[in-house]
Amino acid sequence: MSRLIQSKLTISKYFNALGIPKSGRSRCFSTESNKIDEPLKVEEAETLNVPPPPADKLLVLGGSGFVGSHICKEAINRGLNVASISRSGKSSVEEPWSNNVQWHQGDLLSGDSWKEALSGVTSIVSCVGGFGSNNYMYKINGTANITAIRAAAEKGVKRFVYVSAADSGVINYLLQGYYDGKRAAETELLVRYPYGHVILRPGFIYGNRRVGNLELPLGVIGSPLEMVLQCAKPLSQVPLVGPLLTPPVNVTAVAKVAVRAAIDPVFPPGIVDVHGLLRYSQQK
Ligand SMILES: NC(=O)c1ccc[n+]([C@@H]2O[C@H](COP(=O)([O-])OP(=O)(O)OC[C@H]3O[C@@H](n4cnc5c(N)ncnc54)[C@H](OP(=O)(O)O)[C@@H]3O)[C@@H](O)[C@H]2O)c1
Repeated sequence: MSRLIQSKLTISKYFNALGIPKSGRSRCFSTESNKIDEPLKVEEAETLNVPPPPADKLLVLGGSGFVGSHICKEAINRGLNVASISRSGKSSVEEPWSNNVQWHQGDLLSGDSWKEALSGVTSIVSCVGGFGSNNYMYKINGTANITAIRAAAEKGVKRFVYVSAADSGVINYLLQGYYDGKRAAETELLVRYPYGHVILRPGFIYGNRRVGNLELPLGVIGSPLEMVLQCAKPLSQVPLVGPLLTPPVNVTAVAKVAVRAAIDPVFPPGIVDVHGLLRYSQQK
């Protein structure tokens, strides 16, 4: 970095590099002495003692899960500095990119030691969520994320992306703890990160999902459904049953939008529904 300019570049070498023939050089460069082959001496640029800008560091909460691992992979492929927190503290897949992630072990619902992983973090994507009893679902989707959002705001993390979930009409009543938890975490995010939040609300997310040693190809169902249901957008507005027609979305599309939302300072804050996810994921 300190040597910005090479000191012995002759003008003729410069023209050669540009591919300009000798005959045409006088039209580009005129000198009274015609000494165009004299070495052009450029003093070495002075090194400025300014520290490099801090690199973006992305922390993925739940980076070991189905969606989280795709987000880590996308962020590593984009050259970001990536860390993850999960209770297992390790990758669920053995792929080369996973060696470049800093894997932290921690439970967002227990103790404060996981907060050390927030050091130097510039943005967070949370994929922490899950199913179980209503009480458990509220805790894991709501309380765990609310705790993380508060800790991140206190540590000065600039942006927070939350992988939430689309309403699913009548199913909302069956999974009350899940949806109440999701919406409570969203509300906390709006309060703590009025300008630095992005809430992703996908419906069913498909892709290759690892369960133990098995890999489930969810795309076999998800991909054709996505194509059909994208055309049924007006029907998804019908109360109660409409949300059941929310198109599924590919996990790689969710990962792409999540990483972009986390690092692009002009990505608008707000809720991105499944149609927004599909639209953003198709942008370059
Ligand atoms: N998959 C879908 O179709 C879908 C659809 C809509 C929305 N979503 C939402 O997207 C998010 C990710 O879903 P997913 O399918 O990837 O879920 P997942 O595979 O179960 O991943 C959840 C992640 O959260 C971590 N985690 C859970 N509890 C934690 C805690 N207390 N502290 C720290 N880490 C914890 C898990 O790791 P450990 O178990 O090792 O802690 C895991 O890495 C969830 O919020 C889900 O509600 C998913």
